[in-house]
Amino acid sequence: MASKTAAESNLPAFIWDEALIRRYDLSGPRYTSYPTAVEFTQTYGIDDMVKAAGRSKAAGGPISLYTHLPFCAHLCYYCACNKVITKKRDKAMPYVERVLKEAAIQSRLFGADRPVQQLHWGGGTPTFLPKDVMQHLMAGYGELFNLQSGDDRDYSVEIDPREVDQDTLTTLWELGFNRISLGVQDVNPVVQKAVNRIQPREMTEAVLNEARQLGFRSINLDLIYGLPHQTPESFAETLDSVIELSPDRLSVFSYAHLPDRFYPQTRIQQDTLPSPQQKLTILHNTINRLLDAGYEYIGMDHFAKPDDSLAVAQREGRLHRNFQGYTTHSDCDLVSLGVSAIGQTDDAYFQNNHDLPSWEAAIDAGQLAIIRGVGLSRDDRIRRWVIGQLICQFRLDRTQFTDQWGEDFNRYFTDELNRLTPMIQDELIADSGSVLQVQPAGRLLIRAICQIFDMYRKEGASQRFSRII
Ligand SMILES: C[S@@+](CC[C@H](N)C(=O)[O-])C[C@H]1O[C@@H](n2cnc3c(N)ncnc32)[C@H](O)[C@@H]1O
Ligand code: SF4
Repeated sequence: MASKTAAESNLPAFIWDEALIRRYDLSGPRYTSYPTAVEFTQTYGIDDMVKAAGRSKAAGGPISLYTHLPFCAHLCYYCACNKVITKKRDKAMPYVERVLKEAAIQSRLFGADRPVQQLHWGGGTPTFLPKDVMQHLMAGYGELFNLQSGDDRDYSVEIDPREVDQDTLTTLWELGFNRISLGVQDVNPVVQKAVNRIQPREMTEAVLNEARQLGFRSINLDLIYGLPHQTPESFAETLDSVIELSPDRLSVFSYAHLPDRFYPQTRIQQDTLPSPQQKLTILHNTINRLLDAGYEYIGMDHFAKPDDSLAVAQREGRLHRNFQGYTTHSDCDLVSLGVSAIGQTDDAYFQNNHDLPSWEAAIDAGQLAIIRGVGLSRDDRIRRWVIGQLICQFRLDRTQFTDQWGEDFNRYFTDELNRLTPMIQDELIADSGSVLQVQPAGRLLIRAICQIFDMYRKEGASQRFSRII
């Protein structure tokens, strides 16, 4: 059967309404999980996680395997990721040995025979690892988990093109990876200098071409808007240059300047940043330019070519969201390894220590390094489902809700429906009585809509999160 076209799907088109954006652009979570990570508590410990993993094992089914590889050779000043800056490559092997010790424990807890449908190496910079260390890690996983080789596996890795040598991509391909994402951010030399990330466009192009030749699919590039010295004109040039490279997917993230939370950002001077008005213009132009270039707008911050699996999944209502952003895979339980990594089961989230020496000490003592988490109540799971529907499908069907949860939507969410009224009046979302459907003007503000159903954000905006746009 031919896949649906964008017009046939239930997706709202997109309208830019600046007055509404200003009214609703408060700070809020990105909902890569619900409850969000700020709700994790230290009262949730290893015993709780072991029980959650036991329930997951009993339920069975495929798993997703995430590894956090924190090392980077250089510091990008904007960076908000959990990373360790070092030039010492010999740190990689001891780290990976510990990851394998942790993997041995988790494989027993979650079940070694469950198919690993999704696998992701994130960071930091996974390609900081020398070739033999990458091979050692994957060989170890091969013994501990049921790795897959079928075409429908989704094995992806984040690549910093500055950390790619002549063997890197071939090695990754031979290890079973079939998808990559390249960090780019901006190709403008002035911007690159200001964020301490010198990466000539030719370098990105060479990596992309080699990846294509090897057979990697769904190649993604990460861009960030709102960086120092960016202007609408400079970012338009960056986009032209990136579109010429013709990646299958693009992630376009908003830079949030929070130097109190992310120390490296103190190296960025506030007065070099684009103004909020300029930032809005950059975003508006970016969406228009990418739509003109034939990309489809995915969720709230991704773009994909119409034949890419992410675009097909969105048109067919099969989009999902997890810690890596939007994906095509249904929610597998997530086994997560390495410093700061977050695992997930149907009814729990749990996170490793984000301090490298503390994580190492726990593993060396033969223990898990979980230090916080949250067990999900039934209400959490209901709200996670609702927020997932809104942020991925942009609609919520009351009959589907009742089929899924055995509850009457209007009774369960009386208060939320009242608080949704101004958004309905502003045409961010429409209520037909059977379906809540996000409208074109509400698409960019989907996080504000989701926040209405967030039990922990009833008070509205919170300074702990970046602004929505
Ligand atoms: C772990 S990095 C990608 C892999 C590799 N370390 C690199 O930089 O090429 C993940 C992505 O997060 C995004 N990112 C990092 N810090 C950010 C920030 N403060 N605001 C928005 N996006 C950010 C960047 O787009 C970056 O490519
Ligand atoms: S953006 Fe990537 S390479 Fe740069 S510091 Fe962050 S994790 Fe490392």
